[in-house]
Amino acid sequence: MSLYQPHLMTIEAIQDETPDTRTLRLTFRDPALADSFSFKAGQFGEYSVFGAGECTFCIASPPTRRGYIECSFKAVGKVTRALRELEVGEIVGFRGPYGNAFPVDDWSGRRVLFVAGGIGLAPVRCVLWNVLDLRDRFDEVTLVYGARTVADLVYKRELAEWRDRPDVRLVTTVDPGGEEPGWDGEVGFVPAVLERAAPTGENAVAVVCGPPIMIKHTLPVLGRLGFPPDRIFTTLENRMKCGVGKCGRCNVGPVYVCKDGPVFTAAELAALPAEY
Ligand SMILES: Cc1cc2nc3c(=O)[nH]c(=O)nc-3n(C[C@H](O)[C@H](O)[C@H](O)COP(=O)(O)OP(=O)(O)OC[C@H]3O[C@@H](n4cnc5c(N)ncnc54)[C@H](O)[C@@H]3O)c2cc1C
Ligand code: FES
Repeated sequence: MSLYQPHLMTIEAIQDETPDTRTLRLTFRDPALADSFSFKAGQFGEYSVFGAGECTFCIASPPTRRGYIECSFKAVGKVTRALRELEVGEIVGFRGPYGNAFPVDDWSGRRVLFVAGGIGLAPVRCVLWNVLDLRDRFDEVTLVYGARTVADLVYKRELAEWRDRPDVRLVTTVDPGGEEPGWDGEVGFVPAVLERAAPTGENAVAVVCGPPIMIKHTLPVLGRLGFPPDRIFTTLENRMKCGVGKCGRCNVGPVYVCKDGPVFTAAELAALPAEY
């Protein structure tokens, strides 16, 4: 089978998260693959709409839930708009899993802080559920999540579930002006809200995903809270084509984001050329 030959997957369910963000649950048409497929939190895939092309998304469901994968996407261009036209029962292609992963096994006994902005909660959701499905292995779990407006918060049902869990600390925020009547979360940008929430960096790791500007302003806050750069993890979303280190589309200096990433520590990012 060619490296670029996609597996066929059926759209089992569609969930609209926000007016422009949608989650698909996909199952393998080949029952043997359904049993054998495995991946790690942080990995991504190339999803194809036949006749339109491929696009890159993280796997947004956790590896601890077998038999299906989920992706969440914003319709921003040719392929994602075509994907949005598809309905339950239709077929898409999937190549993957590709890339490295969050080293979840190394985090046993540690506090785990997740910081996400907008649709950056998709890769965080994967690793957060991974941690929650193995909850006994970890110390405190905190999620600080922000979006521009209340309407832009994704995974609202899961946010409600996490809020109700005594073993998760959830802080949600919207940008100033993005609140609406009845909003009982914070108002402010994620880095400032994170600094006020002040989770300790002692014996802790942090996962940060979101728009580059959010990540840029969050890293110094994490430093002040005591998180060393080698215990801060993020994912890069450079444009990709092959996904497997062959085409050279995604490189930053000597690093291929598709093969060496997409997960990097803040220490690793600091050593890369500024272009990422
Ligand atoms: C590892 C990885 C994981 C990703 N995970 C997700 C995810 O979970 N959900 C999601 O919605 N998106 C994700 N993305 C981004 C996603 O791949 C692109 O938005 C998508 O491929 C656009 O496809 P398109 O053909 O619809 O858009 P195009 O027609 O190709 O582009 C539409 C517009 O978006 C811009 N664009 C396209 N791709 C990117 C990119 N990678 N970075 C910045 N701008 C881009 C183009 O320049 C153009 O302005 C991820 C990207 C990577 C590399
Ligand atoms: S996407 Fe082709 S080398 Fe990374």
